[in-house]
Amino acid sequence: MAEILVLTCASGKQCTQIIPSLYEQPQKYRLRLVVHSQKSFEKLEKQYPGAEVLQADLNVPGDCARLVDGATTIYYVSPTFQPQEQHFAFNVIDAAMAEKAKPNSKFSHFILSSVLHPEISKLLNHDRKRLIEEYLCESSLCYTILQPSHFADNAIGRLLAKKDCQAPVFMAAHDPEVAFSFSCIRDHAEASVKIIQEQSRHFFATYQLVTTWPMKYTQYVQSIGDVLGKTFEIKRVPYEQAVQKYCELLFGPDRVLDQSLRDAPERLLLYYNSRGIVGNPGVLEWLLGRPATSPAQLASMMVEKGKSTSS
Ligand SMILES: NC(=O)c1ccc[n+]([C@@H]2O[C@H](COP(=O)([O-])OP(=O)(O)OC[C@H]3O[C@@H](n4cnc5c(N)ncnc54)[C@H](OP(=O)(O)O)[C@@H]3O)[C@@H](O)[C@H]2O)c1
Repeated sequence: MAEILVLTCASGKQCTQIIPSLYEQPQKYRLRLVVHSQKSFEKLEKQYPGAEVLQADLNVPGDCARLVDGATTIYYVSPTFQPQEQHFAFNVIDAAMAEKAKPNSKFSHFILSSVLHPEISKLLNHDRKRLIEEYLCESSLCYTILQPSHFADNAIGRLLAKKDCQAPVFMAAHDPEVAFSFSCIRDHAEASVKIIQEQSRHFFATYQLVTTWPMKYTQYVQSIGDVLGKTFEIKRVPYEQAVQKYCELLFGPDRVLDQSLRDAPERLLLYYNSRGIVGNPGVLEWLLGRPATSPAQLASMMVEKGKSTSS
C-alpha cells in the first residue's frame, strides 16, 4: 500500500520542484500537499488530482494533527518570514511525536528544510530555524535537516527578462560586492527526493545543501550576463526602498504591514550589505553523485526551456 508523504508549503518554490517526481510514483507515495491559502488549495487540487490537498493553519494543533495522521514521512518547509514560524514548527513536531506514539503508527521520518547557518542570530529568519532545529533534535523523532542557502533562482528570472535590452541594468537590493554561496532549487529538489526515498540512510544527518563556493553578487550577475551575451550594469537600490520592495514581494503589494512582519526583511537586507552566507558545495555533490548546477548552467537551462516552449 502507498505510504502517506506530507509536504508543507506545497505551493512554494521548493515543493514545486520536489512534487512532480514523487507524484509519478502513486504505487509508492500518496501525497498530502499542505497549503495555507485558498488560492493555492484550488491551484494544487487542479494540478495534482491524484494527491490529497489539505488547507491547514499551523497555529491550530488540531490542523497539525490532521496533516500527519497516518503519515510515514513529512517534508517540512517552514513558512517564509512569518513571526510565528517557530510556533508553527513546534506544533507540527509535537503532532508528529503524537502520531509516532499511536499504536501501529507508521510515522518514521521528519525532514526539515531549514536554512544555511541557522546559528546567525542577527537574522530573525535564521534564528527562528535554529530554535526549530534544536526542538527537532531533542524530539524522539528520526530526522534529517537540510540547509539550503540563498537560491540562485530568486533573481534569475529578472536577469533573463533583460535578454533583449541594449543596456541591461540589475537593481541590487544589497551590496553586490558581498559574497554568497548560492543554492539551486533544482539540485535541492533532487537531493530532497533522494533523502525521502532512501529514508533511514539519512536519519540524524544535517546537510549543508549549497551549489556554489562563495561568489560575489557581481560575479553571479555577470555569469548570467555571459550566458545572454550581455554586460549588466549594477545599481544599488537605497536601503529603505529595498526593504519596501522585498516586503511587497513577500507579503503582497497592497498590505499595510505590521512592524513584526517588517523586522526580518529589514535585518536581512542590512546584514547582506556587509556579510554574505557561505558554505561548501561538497556535501550536495556527494549526495547527488554529480557536480552541482552553477547559476550560469541554470540560466542556460532556463533559456533552452524558454525556446522549446515558445517554438
Ligand atoms: N528564498 C530563498 O532564497 C531561501 C533560501 C533558503 C531557505 N529558504 C527557506 O525556504 C522556506 C520557504 O520555502 P519556499 O521558498 O519553497 O516557499 P515560497 O516560494 O517562499 O512560498 C511561501 C510558502 O509559504 C506558505 N505560507 C505563507 N504563509 C503561511 C502561513 N501563515 N502558514 C502556512 N504556510 C504559509 C505559502 O503557502 P500558500 O501558497 O498556501 O499561502 C507558500 O507555500 C522559508 O523557510 C525560507 O526561509 C529560502
